[in-house]
Amino acid sequence: MTAVRPADARPTLRFLTCGSVDDGKSTLIGRLLYEQNSIFDDQLSALERDSRKHGTVGEDIDFALLVDGLEAEREQGITIDVAYRYFSTARRSFIVADTPGHEQYTRNMATGASNADLAILLVDARKGLLTQTRRHAFIVSLLGIRHVVLAVNKIDLVGYDQSIFTAIVTAFETFAKDLGFKTITPIPLSARFGDNVSEPSRNMPWYQGVPLLTALEDADMSDDKAGKSMRFPVQWVNRPNLDFRGYAGTIASGSIAKGDTIVVANSGKSTLVERVIGPGGDVERAEAGEAVTLTLRDEVDIARGDILSHAQDRPIVADQFAATLIWMSDEKLLPGRSYLMKLATRTVPVTVTSLKHRIDVNTLEQHIAAKTLSLNEIGLCNLAASTAIAFDPYRENADTGAFILIDRMTNATAAAGLVDFALRRATNIHTHDQTVTRSARAILKHQHPAILWFTGLSGSGKSTVANIVESRLHAVGVHTTLLDGDNVRHGLNKDLGFTDADRVENIRRVGEVAKLMTDAGLVVLCSFISPFEAERRMVRGLVGDGEFLEIFVDTPIEDCIARDPKGLYKRALAGEIQNFTGVSHPYERPNSPDLRLATRGHTPEQLADQVVALLEARGIFGDAWWSLREGEGI
Ligand code: ADX
Repeated sequence: MTAVRPADARPTLRFLTCGSVDDGKSTLIGRLLYEQNSIFDDQLSALERDSRKHGTVGEDIDFALLVDGLEAEREQGITIDVAYRYFSTARRSFIVADTPGHEQYTRNMATGASNADLAILLVDARKGLLTQTRRHAFIVSLLGIRHVVLAVNKIDLVGYDQSIFTAIVTAFETFAKDLGFKTITPIPLSARFGDNVSEPSRNMPWYQGVPLLTALEDADMSDDKAGKSMRFPVQWVNRPNLDFRGYAGTIASGSIAKGDTIVVANSGKSTLVERVIGPGGDVERAEAGEAVTLTLRDEVDIARGDILSHAQDRPIVADQFAATLIWMSDEKLLPGRSYLMKLATRTVPVTVTSLKHRIDVNTLEQHIAAKTLSLNEIGLCNLAASTAIAFDPYRENADTGAFILIDRMTNATAAAGLVDFALRRATNIHTHDQTVTRSARAILKHQHPAILWFTGLSGSGKSTVANIVESRLHAVGVHTTLLDGDNVRHGLNKDLGFTDADRVENIRRVGEVAKLMTDAGLVVLCSFISPFEAERRMVRGLVGDGEFLEIFVDTPIEDCIARDPKGLYKRALAGEIQNFTGVSHPYERPNSPDLRLATRGHTPEQLADQVVALLEARGIFGDAWWSLREGEGI
C-alpha cells in the first residue's frame, strides 16, 4: 500500500473542491491522488481494469472512475454526504473534502467547507462562470475561507487559449472583489492530461504561474485558532462518582491552563480551573482542537451546551440576533415556524422573526425583498431563540458563530447559519418578576388555565362545537374566552392571507395571545383550521404540560363541501379562491390529538359533551365546577 494518512508532522492543509462532475472535479481529484501515490494498490489495479472497460478516455486511465464510484453510491443515498481523501507531498499533507457537485448539493458543499483553509473553484473553460460557481464562491466566502484557487479546467478543449482564460479570470475577479478573499490564484489546467496539475504544462508557455499542487503547498494557512479567545463548549458532564465532576469537550478556540479563571457564559458564574485532563492524563495547558476534561474549584451549575470562556473575554449572550442563512431544505423557510438551532453543543428552539432580504448570488445584490427562502437560497434574517444562548459573530469565531437549523418534524438539516450580530433589543429587555403570579390568578378563578385547540377543515364544525362548549363552561362559572379564525382575521391578523407563511404567522400570533390569556387564568377556546402539525405543536409548547388540548374536528371533506356554510367551497372548487384548505392547500391531520371528534352522525351538542367529558377527565375545572355540578345536576 502506498497511500499516506495525515498522521505525520507535516502541516496539513484542508481544502475542498467546488464544481460538478462535468467540470472535471472527479478527474482532478483522482489525478492528484494518483500522482501523489495516494491510491491503494488494489484500487489502482481496479482502476486500470475499469478504465479499459468503462472509461471514456481510450487507453488512458480514467481518473474520474476512482472517485465517481463513491459519487454513484451517494446518488443512491447510500453513503455519507462528504468524503474526505488524504494525500501528501514532501512539504505538506492534505485533506480534501470531496462533495457531490450537483446544484441541489450545496448543502454538502457547505458541510465540506466548514474547517477548510482553501477552496478550489472549478470552471469548465468552455462554459465560463456559471451561477453555481458564483454561489459556491459566495458560500466559501461566507464560511470564512480566505484562499481560493480558480481552476480553469479543460483548457485543452479550447486550444490552450490564453484569451479565454483571461476572460474567465477577469469575470471572476470582478464578481469576487467584495468577497474578502485574501488570495485568488487562477490556474489554467487540464485534469485529464495533467497540464498544470502537479507539473507545469508545456502547452501554455504564456502562463507564468505555478501548477496547482505547488499552489496548494504554498497556501498560507496562518489562521491561528489557538491565538483566539478561549471557547469551550461543554459536550457532557462526566460524573462517574460523587468525588469527581468533570466537564468534557473539545476546545473550539484559544487555550486553557490550570489556574485560569473561567466564566459560564449564560449564568455569568466564575471559578478556577483545577485540572486539565487530556487523553494521556493531566496537562498544564491545552489548546484549540484538543479534547479535554476540566475540573473546577467550585461547584457551579454547568450543563451540556454551556460555553466556558475566560472572564475578561466572554462570548455574547442574547436571545435575538441577525444571521445569514443558507437554506438547504426542499421545504421552504417559514418565518414564525419553530426550528431547532444547534450552535456548538447547544440546541434550542428558534423562530425566524423576519427575513430582511434575500441575496442574489449572481450579482451579490443584497436587497431582494423576500417572504421565504427556497432550496439553495441565501438570506439575511433576524432570529429569536426561546432562551438566551452564548455565541460569537461568525467572522470572529467560526466555531461558536456557525449553526444549523433542524426541521422539528423530519429532523433533517434545514439551513446552515452564520451569526452576524446580536440584536440590541435582546439584551435590554428583561422579564419582570410579577407579584401576582399566573397560578395566583387561576386559583382566584378556581380553575386550571387551558387552551382548547379546535383544528379541522373549514366548515367542519369547529366554531359551532367550540361555541356550545364555551356556553356550557360559562354557565357553570368557568372563566373563558374564545378566539376564532374568522374573527381574529378581522382585527389582530387582518394583514394576513392564506399562504403557508401567513398561516404560520396567524397561528403564531394566536398562540401567543392564547398563552397570555392562560396567564390571566382563563380557559381559552381556539377555533382555527391550523393546517400544519408544526404550528399546533408550537402552541402546545407555549404552555405547561396538560394545558393544551388538541381537539381534532374530523369531518370528511365531502360533508364540509355539502354543508358549505359560507359558500367558500363552491368558489374554491370553481378556482375563484386560491390556496383553499382541502381543495388546493394541504391539511395535515393530527397524529395524536387529545380528542378526535368523528362528527358524522353526531349532533354538535353530542360532540360538545365529548369535549366537556375530556375536560372533566383532565381536571381542568376546580371547586367551582364540582360544587355547581353537584348543586345543579349538570
Ligand atoms: S388558518 O389556516 O390560518 O388556521 P383560519 O382558521 O385563521 O385559517 O381561517 C380560516 C377561515 O378563513 C375559514 O373558515 C374560511 O372562512 C376563511 N377562508 C378564506 N379563504 C380561505 C382559504 N383559502 N383557506 C381556508 N380558509 C379560508
